[in-house]
Amino acid sequence: MDTDVALSSTGLADEWWRSAVIYQIYPRSFADSDGDGVGDLPGITARLDSLADLGIDAIWLSPFYRSPQNDAGYDVADYCDIDPLFGTLDDFDALLHKAHELELKVIVDLVPNHSSDQHVWFQEALAAPEGSPERARYIFRDGRGPDGDLPPNNWESVFGGDAWTRTTRTDGTPGQWYLHLFDKSQPDFDWNNPWVHERFIDVLRFWLDRGVDGFRVDVAHGMVKADGLPDWRAEEGAGSMGGAGGVALSPEIEDSTPSSPPYWAQEGVHQIFRDWRRVLDEYEGDRVLCAEAWVDPLSKLALWVRPDEMDQAFNFTYLETEWSAPALRKVITDSIDAFASVGAPSTWVLSNHDVVRHATRLALTAPNPQGAGVGPNSAGQPIVELGLRRARAATMLMLGLPGSAYLYQGEELGLPEAVNLPDEARQDPTFFRTNGEKYGRDGCRVPIPWEASAPAYGFNTTGASWLPQPAEWADFARDRQRGRAGSTLELYRTALTERDAAALGTGHLTWRHEFGPDVVAYDNAGVTVVANLGTVPVELPVEDVILASEPLDGATLPPETTVWLRAS
Ligand code: NOJ
Repeated sequence: MDTDVALSSTGLADEWWRSAVIYQIYPRSFADSDGDGVGDLPGITARLDSLADLGIDAIWLSPFYRSPQNDAGYDVADYCDIDPLFGTLDDFDALLHKAHELELKVIVDLVPNHSSDQHVWFQEALAAPEGSPERARYIFRDGRGPDGDLPPNNWESVFGGDAWTRTTRTDGTPGQWYLHLFDKSQPDFDWNNPWVHERFIDVLRFWLDRGVDGFRVDVAHGMVKADGLPDWRAEEGAGSMGGAGGVALSPEIEDSTPSSPPYWAQEGVHQIFRDWRRVLDEYEGDRVLCAEAWVDPLSKLALWVRPDEMDQAFNFTYLETEWSAPALRKVITDSIDAFASVGAPSTWVLSNHDVVRHATRLALTAPNPQGAGVGPNSAGQPIVELGLRRARAATMLMLGLPGSAYLYQGEELGLPEAVNLPDEARQDPTFFRTNGEKYGRDGCRVPIPWEASAPAYGFNTTGASWLPQPAEWADFARDRQRGRAGSTLELYRTALTERDAAALGTGHLTWRHEFGPDVVAYDNAGVTVVANLGTVPVELPVEDVILASEPLDGATLPPETTVWLRAS
């Protein structure tokens, strides 16, 4: 460890986010106050009490900015205003005020890799001549081939298809191409341009001045592209947010092909975050920056959270780990070690708005690459009951760990993925850009159930819902679970209370090995956590049980179950 890291980690070790449990709200699907079928900010404010009741420390709000909603708000048309779909700036202030009254911190989503093509910055760029300062905000290039009718390079969009779209000049002739790593309505900024840096510092200040406690930074590994935009074909093909594997290209271009994707994890991103860190540090309190960076290995991801950069990075390596005791022991050790080497805590996460909910994912019977989603015709349909049982065990294994944990709305209800959405209801651009080959992410984004007997399960009072809610979701509704012993909601509530009481988030993990290869067991801050991933029951050392994910059989731990014990 170098000296800077040691000093910083000693001096700053008590920031709230180091051990916080942060709950992701997906505004479209949380609570809908005006009954139009899309959730909104007043809806969230009205339901914040139930999150305080759950026992979380902070909320992260997915985008609510002005947007044509081509990518559910990750296509921003104005970074400093609220989309009328979600409310107004006054509604945001009211939400922030209420959250702070309830002692909940508020993190907002920042989307700096790309804007919407409807953003005035892009519209001005389109209207301006080739080579103009306006064009230099984004990545415009001439096409290849004699008439420029081939894209400038061979990159593919994460959502499928080409990563380039050709423009049309005002006289109707074909013009330059622009880069979009995602949908064609999401042009990438050129972060080599100081103008872009300045605009985003303004955006940070706008929200910091309003009082937000931090930012979750979208695609924080993709903002800078390799010089010359060299060709690259990802091994996984389109749809991958990370990874380093590549396939051989034709011999003539192979020599100039880089060994890792020229649009992910470029060194230049780090200076951006150093600049942002300095801005956040000007503000009172501990304002947090959390990276969405699909980077592996973990030792490389740790570079995002060096003391002068971001504070947290989502641990997607953990999220993507198979349900296997050796694999989980390894990823937990690797995570703690990697982040500790730069003085940062590890984060833990099992679900979010981009992946199959873990109550389904952990019981899929065939591999399902990230972003592919699960639909009625997917191979490897989940074993439903096993999924919920594993999800409860996995959550208790995660919430016992030191560091910070992220929860995704609805997981505290044990919600599964909505697998049977009809094609005509689907909205994710992935579905359309792959011609339905990939179902995409709609199945984890369905509005969540609050009251079993109300219209739209209490999501609103009209029954409208931008994605249809499955008929069998009444049993998952919050009112059916609150106060019912053994419900998933009560499991989460008790786990969060006990996690707080024992200060597990700031503890230290010591492995226990006596339970055999199919068990993950550790001590942390006076609590012993034992997760049985095997097929036979395991004898427990003491009977002082704090909480178990399933009923115990005396002093034995059934398969697919996690228990927290008071350490002897
Ligand atoms: C990551 C976000 O989480 C995802 O929902 C979005 O589609 C892409 N970034 C593009 O912004």
